[in-house]
Amino acid sequence: MKENINGFSKLDKQEKINWIAQNFFSDADEAVKMIKRYWNADEALQKLHDEFIENTITNFYLPFGIAPNFLINKEWYTVPMVIEESSVVAAAAKSAKFWSVRGGFKTTVIGTEKIGQVHFLFKGEKPKLIQFINQIKPLFFDETAVVTQNMRKRGGGIQEVELRDKTDVLPDYYQLHVTFDTKDSMGANFINSCLEQIAEILKKQAVQNPSFSDEENQIDVVMSILSNYVPNCLVRAEVSCRVEELKSKDIEDPQLFAEKFVQAVKIAEIEPFRAVTHNKGIMNGVDAVVVATGNDFRAVEAGIHAFAAKSGVYSSLSHAIIEDGIFKFWVDLPLALGTVGGLTSLHPMVKMALQILKKPSAEQLMQIIAAAGLAQNFAAVKSLTTTGIQKGHMKMHLMNILNQFKATDEEKVAVAAHFEKEIVSHNAVVELLESLRK
Ligand code: MEV
Repeated sequence: MKENINGFSKLDKQEKINWIAQNFFSDADEAVKMIKRYWNADEALQKLHDEFIENTITNFYLPFGIAPNFLINKEWYTVPMVIEESSVVAAAAKSAKFWSVRGGFKTTVIGTEKIGQVHFLFKGEKPKLIQFINQIKPLFFDETAVVTQNMRKRGGGIQEVELRDKTDVLPDYYQLHVTFDTKDSMGANFINSCLEQIAEILKKQAVQNPSFSDEENQIDVVMSILSNYVPNCLVRAEVSCRVEELKSKDIEDPQLFAEKFVQAVKIAEIEPFRAVTHNKGIMNGVDAVVVATGNDFRAVEAGIHAFAAKSGVYSSLSHAIIEDGIFKFWVDLPLALGTVGGLTSLHPMVKMALQILKKPSAEQLMQIIAAAGLAQNFAAVKSLTTTGIQKGHMKMHLMNILNQFKATDEEKVAVAAHFEKEIVSHNAVVELLESLRK
């Protein structure tokens, strides 16, 4: 077995597959067969996927599910979700339906500001730097015109360039903190291109200026990059109803339910161990739609968790209160999303997801995703404070256990019927399967 290799990227696809199969599998032919089973028969489609990243050898499937009946600001949405975890889509759909007859989700975009920074070092006197940046500031707009032209036509562009002094936390460290409006695109490439251009302008102007040319007064650019922390690219999703309206099949005592629910959210607000799991439940809904719509889930995750820790203590993203007999539950999420550019026009399933969502703008998508996050959070906290989550989870997980044991369709029907009224556990399922097979 050879565990490392030079020039892997130079091999063609078949050679890459052979290297993997021969080095990591006892039955290389079987491994090659498995890798190729996941190829798409449509060669053009396969090529498209091959070219999304480097060193592609095959595809990795995730289920694409649908959560219907989301009533958001009085408009119906059918929400596509890409996720591997059983029960997430079912929970979202159940929550959506529950709230659809209680006024639906109300969502508001609070801001759409994106951020990028040019990080640099300067040892000289601060007033001199301030004056210099003020003097050259118009150039940051004028000399990036080529890069920003199209975005400006769409109503976006660079909004502001601000000098920030960070020398109190790191010696000689300053930033150009730049804000952007990127309209319907996530704008990562646009922002990074602008920032690199701004850094060039900064360097060029400094070199040409005699007061910045000596060693003591040099401007050293360290790096230029967008920030995935976007606290002002913010959306709120909220649900509310009179406490007694919460009464439903699984909520017999709405007052008790509401109080316990609010208590559970309060715990997540003050206890980081709980907050992380609570927020993970929100991200079940958020990520599934972010992935389905071809957005950058790592960026969204990083930004949201930073936002959850903005007070200095990691805390719940959602909040709940009972006020004047009204139960109110809401979430604020920073979401930098795109509905044009990137994968949105390339990946056929992303195009399909956006079509199902009625071709939303980035602002509409922010609202849909916030609603999906809140729906998911409601379902999780509702289960946790009433039946516990395992009842629902294990019901959904039943199919995974049955597939693991290669159950036939008849066996699946018989086992599912049995567990309608019984508690699902791995052992109980296996025992039942064994007895059916005797
Ligand atoms: C599981 O994927 C998500 C939950 O743990 C969320 C929560 O605890 O609130 C159920």
